[in-house]
Amino acid sequence: MLRAMPIIKDLSWVGVLDASLRVFDIFIPASQGSSYNSYLLRGSEKNAIIEGVHGRFTEQFLEKIQSEMPLDKIDYLIVNHTEPDHSGAIARLLEAAPQIEIVASRGAATFLRAQLNREANCRIVSEGDTLSLGDKTLRFMMVPFWHWPDTMFTYWEEEKILFPCDGFGSHFADERMFNDIADDFWMEFSSYYDHIMRPFADKILAGCEKVRALELQMICPSHGPILRSDIWRYVDAYEEWSRKALLKPQSAAVIYTSAYGNTRRLAEAVAEGVRNSGGTVKLLDAAAISLHDAQAELESVQVIFFGSPTINGDAVLPIWNAISATPLLAGRGKMSAACFGSYGWSGEACGQMIERLKGLRYNVNPVPFKVNFVPTGEDLQKASEWAADFLGCIGEWC
Ligand code: FEO
Repeated sequence: MLRAMPIIKDLSWVGVLDASLRVFDIFIPASQGSSYNSYLLRGSEKNAIIEGVHGRFTEQFLEKIQSEMPLDKIDYLIVNHTEPDHSGAIARLLEAAPQIEIVASRGAATFLRAQLNREANCRIVSEGDTLSLGDKTLRFMMVPFWHWPDTMFTYWEEEKILFPCDGFGSHFADERMFNDIADDFWMEFSSYYDHIMRPFADKILAGCEKVRALELQMICPSHGPILRSDIWRYVDAYEEWSRKALLKPQSAAVIYTSAYGNTRRLAEAVAEGVRNSGGTVKLLDAAAISLHDAQAELESVQVIFFGSPTINGDAVLPIWNAISATPLLAGRGKMSAACFGSYGWSGEACGQMIERLKGLRYNVNPVPFKVNFVPTGEDLQKASEWAADFLGCIGEWC
């Protein structure tokens, strides 16, 4: 029989390891696997589970809980966040233990209803609300966009243990489960931040302020090792990385792809136009840079110029991928963009890119810069001026 793992008195890990996982959520690397951490907290009067697990591991999850107590002894399920890697097993848990009351933010309750496709017995909590288990008190902290709008933290006041769901997590499967005895997972901790938290750097910093105000003995995240040693190192890192992510000097990126060098020459001219305007610029070949690196580069600028030739009536795949790498920031209306490219016959690429960027809520220059086949010296000069003009007029599109 699978057994729960004790953490401290009255707190056990009833989560699961997913050691064979290699890609999380379709595109996030997880070369060291992951874990879906769930915690069982026994109070003198009530018992609570904090977080669920991925639906693929429901049976293991239920077995581990039952190694500690019968399911009908569980009073609460604390749902800090409803992404299905945590909520997937909830339907079956509620079937087996219908007396359980869910405790969640308003957003999480709404999402959960749509996932379960039925009403659930749900207690909605807000910032600072508490839940008593008798001799134990749980306090809830709202941290929207860590990394979903529904997210909250749960803090066990007496033992000073924070349950931050995805926050401070790692895709790292190590059955030793504690950071001071697991293999080194700093790279996975950092990669996890990059892929999941960095797009919300401002919200992460706001949440870290709340964490700073806590006394902490331990952080029990929902993925990867439990942090019980050198805890503030992890909080420090989140703060440092988030501040860095928010540093945006006046800067632009020119990301392009080019079959025969014509769009590349336009890209170089556009970059020159940015420099002439006093801005800094990154010139990126979309076909030569990984999507992850492209995302990091594009998130660090305010303006992006996308360049693509038209091939078979379409912009080309590396540019579509690059555009897809930034929707989180663009979606909040903070990014500006313009499009350029060389074409041979019909030149649809720029128009298509503009429509896509509008859909992602970029502030888009409606006027692209297009050149038929090979740009002349005059074309390059005009491309440079077009870029500089756009930078000077961004407000008109904002
Ligand atoms: Fe681990 Fe956002 O789910």
